[in-house]
Amino acid sequence: MDVLDDLMRYTLVVSTALLAGHDLDAVRQRDGDGLPRRLPLVFEKLGRRIASPVPYWRWVRLPADRRLDATVAELRDLIEQQYVHARRRVAEGQAPVTYLEALAEASMDDAAKLSEQDAVSAVVNMIVAGEDNTAAAAAWAMHYLAIHPEAQRKVREEAEEVLGDDGFPSDPAALSRLRYAEAVGNESIRLRPTSPFLIMQAVHDITIPDGADALRLEAGTLVMPLMTHASDVDDHKYPDPGAFEPDRWLSSSAPQPNDASPFLPFGGGPRFCPGRNLALIEVTMVVATVCRHFVLEADTTSGPVGERVTFAMMPTNLGIRLHPAEHRRLDRRNAGAHT
Ligand code: HEM
Repeated sequence: MDVLDDLMRYTLVVSTALLAGHDLDAVRQRDGDGLPRRLPLVFEKLGRRIASPVPYWRWVRLPADRRLDATVAELRDLIEQQYVHARRRVAEGQAPVTYLEALAEASMDDAAKLSEQDAVSAVVNMIVAGEDNTAAAAAWAMHYLAIHPEAQRKVREEAEEVLGDDGFPSDPAALSRLRYAEAVGNESIRLRPTSPFLIMQAVHDITIPDGADALRLEAGTLVMPLMTHASDVDDHKYPDPGAFEPDRWLSSSAPQPNDASPFLPFGGGPRFCPGRNLALIEVTMVVATVCRHFVLEADTTSGPVGERVTFAMMPTNLGIRLHPAEHRRLDRRNAGAHT
């Protein structure tokens, strides 16, 4: 199976449902030319635009650019329609459930501060910002589990315990008990940050202190901080920083959920990624449910796993064989039935 394609569809469905209350059904709808099929394809194109030395699309629109623009416009239309429903629900006095409904409520309180256009743009932005990154993070987690059978065994045992025979989290409280699966997610994102660099610009002259040194930046200077693991090898912060060790996230000195500073992959400061917790939940769910049902085995027949930056930093040649897992709990239950 194409793991990345499935994961991109999964994160798209989760984001669109949570943010705008719409079921895109992109995991099942793979044929035809509708939004569920075309939306997962826009991210690579967006990534190419980010990396392009010349913003040619401002003057010349190639067929691929026209397709990209049409798909984003269609997503925007969809969110505008959802905004009408969101506004109606909030006007009827219902408490906001989605992000769009919360924005609709804020807009109704003070449209001068938050217009309908702002609210729709914010939701489109969130959907685009969160989809590729999170899918790539889940794919990297599956890669690490496929090459670390011991970690995989621990995830499976925890998932069997927490998810039970259903194999899926039946209530949100179960998620907080998937601690090892979440640690696997954190550790994979630490080693393979899926946003490997940021692009910033100094808005005024600034001096950044660095011990005895200082870095002087003039207003307008472009800065591209590297978020890659190689730029974060402080072994006080992360002992043996190159090793895949999910357990480091379970120790008492591990970074806490809201403690952004030691963990660069989600940025830092006022622009810190607002989707971090959702991304971790999505990755934790993938890790736990896949290991609950399957044993992952690395398949390197297409070559070694590599990295490719599109919109996010994606694994290439990610071959994984999935073997049905033997379920200890089911086996115990069946054994009971036979005796
Ligand atoms: C593993 C998954 C993710 C990674 C690695 C990631 C990483 C990042 C990074 C590095 C930034 C820039 C932070 C900065 O400038 O300091 C960012 C910003 C942002 N992220 Fe994420 N992100 C992920 C998932 C998500 C999700 C799921 C959403 C939404 C549902 C999201 C929404 C955003 C938004 C809206 C911004 C812009 C924030 C701003 O400029 O104020 N991200 N993310």
